[in-house]
Amino acid sequence: MGAASRAMWAGLVLAALLLAQSPAAAALPRFAEAPEYRNGERCPAPVAGAGVCDPGLVHIAMTLDAHYLRGSMAAIYSLLKHASCPESLFFHFLAAEGGGAPAVADLRAAVAASFPSLRFEIYPFRADAVAGLISASVRAALEAPLNYARNHLADLLPRCVPRAIYLDSDVLAVDDVRRLWETRLPAAAVVAAPEYCHANFSRYFTEAFWNDPVLGARVFAGRRRAPCYFNTGVMVIDLRRWRVGNYRQRIEWWMEMQKEKRIYELGSLPPFLLVFAGEIEAVDHRWNQHGLGGDNVFGSCRPLHNGPVSLMHWSGKGKPWDRLDAGKPCPLDHTWKSYDLYIGENDSSASGQSRLKMQQLTAEQASSMCNGISDDNFLTSCRLLQLD
Ligand SMILES: *[C@@H]1O[C@H](CO)[C@@H](O)[C@H](O)[C@H]1NC(C)=O
Ligand SMILES: *[C@@H]1O[C@H](CO)[C@@H](O)[C@H](O)[C@H]1NC(C)=O
Repeated sequence: MGAASRAMWAGLVLAALLLAQSPAAAALPRFAEAPEYRNGERCPAPVAGAGVCDPGLVHIAMTLDAHYLRGSMAAIYSLLKHASCPESLFFHFLAAEGGGAPAVADLRAAVAASFPSLRFEIYPFRADAVAGLISASVRAALEAPLNYARNHLADLLPRCVPRAIYLDSDVLAVDDVRRLWETRLPAAAVVAAPEYCHANFSRYFTEAFWNDPVLGARVFAGRRRAPCYFNTGVMVIDLRRWRVGNYRQRIEWWMEMQKEKRIYELGSLPPFLLVFAGEIEAVDHRWNQHGLGGDNVFGSCRPLHNGPVSLMHWSGKGKPWDRLDAGKPCPLDHTWKSYDLYIGENDSSASGQSRLKMQQLTAEQASSMCNGISDDNFLTSCRLLQLD
C-alpha cells in the first residue's frame, strides 16, 4: 500500500468514525462560543478542593433539553455577562433521560463548547419519576416531565448546596444575579420569588376545588400571608429547609389529589401554589418581568411591566427564537437576540464575537422598544437594555 492510499484509508476510517458519532450529535443545534468573563477583584476567593461545596458559589439550577437549548444557552450567557463574579456561578442542569432526549454527554459537550470554563453539572432526570403523577392538562407543553424537575432539585443536587436559584430556560438576566442570590429568607420561608397579588388567584383552581368543603380557602388558612400567585420560573429555594420539610412529597400529594378530583387545570404550577402560596418570601418584581412570550407565537407582543428590570422572562406560548426565525420578532425579542449563540444551518460566519456584533439592535429597533413608556424608572431600564 502506497503512502497516498494509506492516507486515503486513514481518511476513510476517520470519516466512518465521525459518521458513526454523528446521529446523536446531529440532534443538537450548533452554538457559537460565548465571550469569556472573569471574576472581579472583590469576588470570594475559591476554596481549594471544595468544588461544588465551595461556600462562595452562587448556584443556578435550570433544565436542559433539545427544544429549549437555544434559550438555555442565551440565559447562561446573559447570567455570566452581567455577573460581578461570573467564575463563582455554578450551574446545575437537569436533563431528561430516555424517550428520545439528547444524551447527557452531547449536552455536556454543547455547553462546554460555548462556555469552556463554565462550572456545571448535569443531572439526568428520569421522566418516570413523575409520569404516574401527571394529569392531562389544556396545554400539552406544560405536561413535559421536565417541567416537574424543579420539584426534585433538593433530591438531585449535592447535599452541601444550601440554596439554588431555579430559572426557566426562557429568561434573560440583565443584572448581577448575586443580588437575587443574597435575598434574605426568614426562617419560615423555603422559597423566595416575586409575588403577584393583583392577579386573580382563584382562577388557578377549579370551582370544584373552591366549593369542596375540605379544600378551597381552608387549604390556605393560617399561612404567613394571604395567598397570591407567583411564577415558578424564577425562584430562590432553600434546599436544606426543602429537604427537612419533604416539600417534594407535599407537592406530589396534591398531584395525587388532582388525579382523583379535578382541582386545577394548568400543569406544574398549581400544586406549587397549593403548597407555597402565602408562605413564600416576596422578591422585587424586577427579578421576573414575565409574560413576554405573549399569548401565542406570532400574534401578541407584550411590553415590560412598569418598574426596573433585572430579569426578563418570555413565559407564555411565544418564544423569541421562534418569532425571530419566522421573521416576526416582538421589539423585546431583539434584546434576546443579542444573547443568541445559535448558529443556523446556513450561517457561515460562525465566530461568536463577529456574529454577536451583527445581532446588536439597529437604531430603529432600539427606539421602538421603549416607545410610549411614561414611568421614569422603567424608561431608564428600557434604555439600559438597549445599550447592552
Ligand atoms: C376571579 O376568577 C374567578 C374564577 O375564574 C371568577 O369567578 C371571579 O369573578 C374572578 N374575580 C375577579 C375579581 O375578577
Ligand atoms: C438553507 O439553505 C438552503 C439552500 O439555500 C435552503 O433550502 C434552506 O431552506 C435554508 N435553511 C434555512 C433554515 O434557512
